[in-house]
Parts: sequence; structure tokens; C-alpha cells
Amino acid sequence: MPNSSPSALFRDHLADPRRPAVRARISAQLTEQGLVTMDGLERREQVLGLARVLMKVNRHRDSDPDGLTVIRDTGRHQDRPGFAGLSSAELFPHTEGSALPVPPRLMLLALARAADSGGACVLVDGRAVYDDLLAGHPDAVEVLAEDRAGLFGTGSGTFSPVFAHPGGERIQVRLRLDELARFHPRVEPYLPALRAAIDRHRHALPLRAGQAYLLDNYRWLHARTAFGGGRVAYRALGDPQVGLTLPAGFSVGSALAAEPTEAPALVGGGAWR
Ligand SMILES: [Fe+2]
Repeated sequence: MPNSSPSALFRDHLADPRRPAVRARISAQLTEQGLVTMDGLERREQVLGLARVLMKVNRHRDSDPDGLTVIRDTGRHQDRPGFAGLSSAELFPHTEGSALPVPPRLMLLALARAADSGGACVLVDGRAVYDDLLAGHPDAVEVLAEDRAGLFGTGSGTFSPVFAHPGGERIQVRLRLDELARFHPRVEPYLPALRAAIDRHRHALPLRAGQAYLLDNYRWLHARTAFGGGRVAYRALGDPQVGLTLPAGFSVGSALAAEPTEAPALVGGGAWR
């Protein structure tokens, strides 16, 4: 399988949000690839302005009143289930809002300040994971598509298939693998194969300050390596704005090739559940 460097992932998905007809161009790229990278978003106002062009920005638990969430180590969220994003800890690949009845379709994350060490963004193309599993473990794909395959969140949680079929041959992904993820007993035997497939398709995306990614949260999983120092990122979540249309889910087929990353592999780690 051909490989590409982490910088190639950024370069290959780069779009300039200042150019005309940005919504149409980004809409097309999100439909085809599910991922857009951008540069030149140094200030919070720029991030918020772009987010509002692209999506109906959702306010939520951790966001500021304008809907943006400042992702940083608050020093108060270590070891709190569901709050790892606000610590300096590693985040395993996940869907944002996996415990919500309907997770946001889009996520924009812009790095405002790089960490002193670590803190690389890591992305996993759910289409690549699906194709990989379908080739090697078609029975796993079948079980992961069951309505109650996963149970995500606190308390009674939210049941969801990991691979849902929103219509036709299209697929959408919902997954988390932290302490707030539980799985149907029929799924458990297939979790090692799922984790291994995710590891094979991890792409490190080491952003500089002012660089950002926009992803289809129903296709790409996102993660982060542990970090030291004052890493700060702005994040916006929401559904596509008028003029930016996305079909339900994504088509399966030839996905972005896997690559070795500098991010540590998760297989065999003690933190998976
Ligand atoms: Fe997240």
C-alpha cells in the first residue's frame, strides 16, 4: 500500500478559504474526501468567521457563548471521564459528540498555539477502516453495523451502530474507544480487529499555529497525542450551513492509503476498552 508523509496529508487537502465560492469548493471536497485543511487562521475571529460561513455552529457543554471551544489543558480535567480533551492527555480516535442523539456533521479545529512537545493531531479515515475490515473481517463489519453495536456516553448512554447505513451503498461512522464506550457482547470479539484497522490508517497531522482542519465527523475519526506546554486550539462543531450540502454518509471504495505515523500505535496499549 503506498504511503504519504504527514505533510502530504495537509498539502493534499489544502483549500484557501479566502478564495471565491469557498462553500461550493469545500462542499465538493468534503463530499469526495471528507477532509479539508486550511492555513492563515491565526486569530479567534477568523476561525469563528469561517466556521459561521461553513456551519450552523452548535453551542455545547464546553463551548464559549459564541460556540467556539478553546481546547487546552485546563489543569482541572485530568482523569475525568469524557473531559480528556481539556487535559494534556492522549486522545484515542473518536467521533466528536458520539454520545449525542445526533452528533455534529462537521468539526473545524484550528491550532492557535503549538505545544512545546507532542500534541500532534491524528486523523483516521473511517472509509479506509471500513474497506480494510470488509476485506479482512467481513463478519466484523456485519456485527458493527447492528443497531446496538455500541453504547456511548455516561448513564444510559446512546446506542448506535459503529457503521450505519444511511441509504444506498453509503456508510457513516460513529465510534469512541475510551472509558465511555461499551459494546454489545457480539462486538467484543471483533474489537481487536477494529483497533488494528484503525492503527493501520492513522495519519499524523502536525499543525502549526494558524493551520486548521475541517472534517466530516461522520467519516473521519480524530485524535491527538499527549503534549507538554501550552497548546491551544479553537474548535467549532455544527451542521452544514445553507449552500454547503453533503449527502448522507460517504461512499465506500478506494480510500486514502494508510501510512506509518510518528504517533504511537494503540494496539497492545492498556488504555483501550
Ligand atoms: Fe474530539
